[in-house]
Amino acid sequence: MWLGNRREFVRDAIVFASAAAVLGRDGPARAQPSAALRKVGANDRIRVAVVGFHGQGRAHLSGYAALPDTIVTVMCDCDRAVPTMEPVKKTLAEVESRQGFLPEFVQDIRRVLERKDVDVVSIATPNHWHALAAIWAIQAGKDVYVEKPVSHNVWEGRRIVDFARKYNRIVQTGTQSRSMAGMRETLAFLHSGGIGQVTLARGLCYKPRPSIGPQVTTEPPSTVDYDLWLGPAPKKPVTRRRFHYDWHWFWDYGNGDLGNQGIHEMDKARWGLGKNALCQAVISIGGRVGYEDAGETANTQICVFDYGDSQLIFEVRGLPTRDLLGCRIGNIWYGDKGYVVSTNYNSGAAFTPDGQLIRKFQGTGNHFANFIQAVKSRKVSDLTADIEEGHLSSALCHLGNISYRLGRPYTPGAEKELSKEGQEAFSRMVEHLRENKVTHLELLRVGPLLKFDPKAERFIGNPEANALLTREYRKGYEIPSS
Ligand SMILES: NC(=O)c1ccc[n+]([C@@H]2O[C@H](COP(=O)([O-])OP(=O)(O)OC[C@H]3O[C@@H](n4cnc5c(N)ncnc54)[C@H](O)[C@@H]3O)[C@@H](O)[C@H]2O)c1
Repeated sequence: MWLGNRREFVRDAIVFASAAAVLGRDGPARAQPSAALRKVGANDRIRVAVVGFHGQGRAHLSGYAALPDTIVTVMCDCDRAVPTMEPVKKTLAEVESRQGFLPEFVQDIRRVLERKDVDVVSIATPNHWHALAAIWAIQAGKDVYVEKPVSHNVWEGRRIVDFARKYNRIVQTGTQSRSMAGMRETLAFLHSGGIGQVTLARGLCYKPRPSIGPQVTTEPPSTVDYDLWLGPAPKKPVTRRRFHYDWHWFWDYGNGDLGNQGIHEMDKARWGLGKNALCQAVISIGGRVGYEDAGETANTQICVFDYGDSQLIFEVRGLPTRDLLGCRIGNIWYGDKGYVVSTNYNSGAAFTPDGQLIRKFQGTGNHFANFIQAVKSRKVSDLTADIEEGHLSSALCHLGNISYRLGRPYTPGAEKELSKEGQEAFSRMVEHLRENKVTHLELLRVGPLLKFDPKAERFIGNPEANALLTREYRKGYEIPSS
């Protein structure tokens, strides 16, 4: 593993001092880390470090600060300007008022992991960091909450599961719908045969995403330690206008909307099918259409996952669209006795085959609280979204993207490779594209139908596809072997 050195310690100390000074001037009162940390020990609360808090990490900060049995001792971000950003300052003010002090700021995750006043590491960095940060934290003896998708590729996702088991750590996936009462009841109804045998699960991610602007070559913000931000990813210049968030649309860091919003619906779709393994085959068709910009990932995509006795069909639509059965971001499951629709993270409704309402399910929950409960009980079975669930659902997104990335330009009839239901989804996609004035279907890529061995988590007879199951890790940021 890594070892800290004095130079980095001093740099982090300076960074913390400057962040605290700025916060003291413009925002909440200056942090008192050492006194606060002594208090934490005395109260015996679970001590949390949040890693990456420009966006979703803010929900982590306020989520843990609101729980009675946790305290946020450290906040880490490789952009030292993050604590001074407007929406973040508001979150930090809330955290401070709830727990009586501000967490200490550090810029380098390695400084978080060597601390004795951190029990839990909660990761909300970009996707390309998730597996490495989680594994480093597990090796350092911490329990981990890791955002979705838990991995940037299939191989590293399985490695987190292996490390979690080997080191006996509690590792939660950030798919919060798993903790919502209404979603759990919906899924229990499905699993109890409420609509008979479920043979098709749809995941829908109809979420309009505008252009991110043209390709530019620009410097990372001066406040960002870019080497740290890149971590395992190759050293390349920044080619997007907005540094944060828009990395989602670049293969080196993100996984497109399939692995952004879509992973939530992928997870629920697989959960509904009751499949605790990856599929037997996958095919994807899609494109980045409707505008030309710097992004690389598809904004329009269909993936068909074959499970033998059932299938999962996923649709991404990033251009304005109509809904399907009232659903835009959600799921539809079909059985021989009816269907179930869920249009959010905490509710569902079951219908007879002719559309008569059978039952509704509704109710929220607290995913952070579920994690902390399992941290205390030391029982993986107490988690609603154990890392293995996160790995499988994240991996399905990666498999869909692998077929897409190996695709060739669309030629008429190419959709015949899809199942009957997949072809129906393709016709709706073509209609949707026409409504957005996209008529050149050759802009779409048709991926190969890839056979997959779910036990080995490898493609069968396709070295090109197997190569995309992992990545070249940059020196110093390799996934450890044991
Ligand atoms: N569960 C949910 O509903 C939900 C919602 C939104 C985002 N997310 C997930 O949260 C993650 C972050 O998304 P976002 O929208 O907040 O992205 P973002 O780019 O806005 O923020 C990521 C932050 O992580 C920091 N960072 C990058 N590498 C780091 C490192 N090595 N150490 C410390 N900090 C580092 C960045 O500087 C940035 O501040 C993504 O994986 C995303 O999929 C989950």
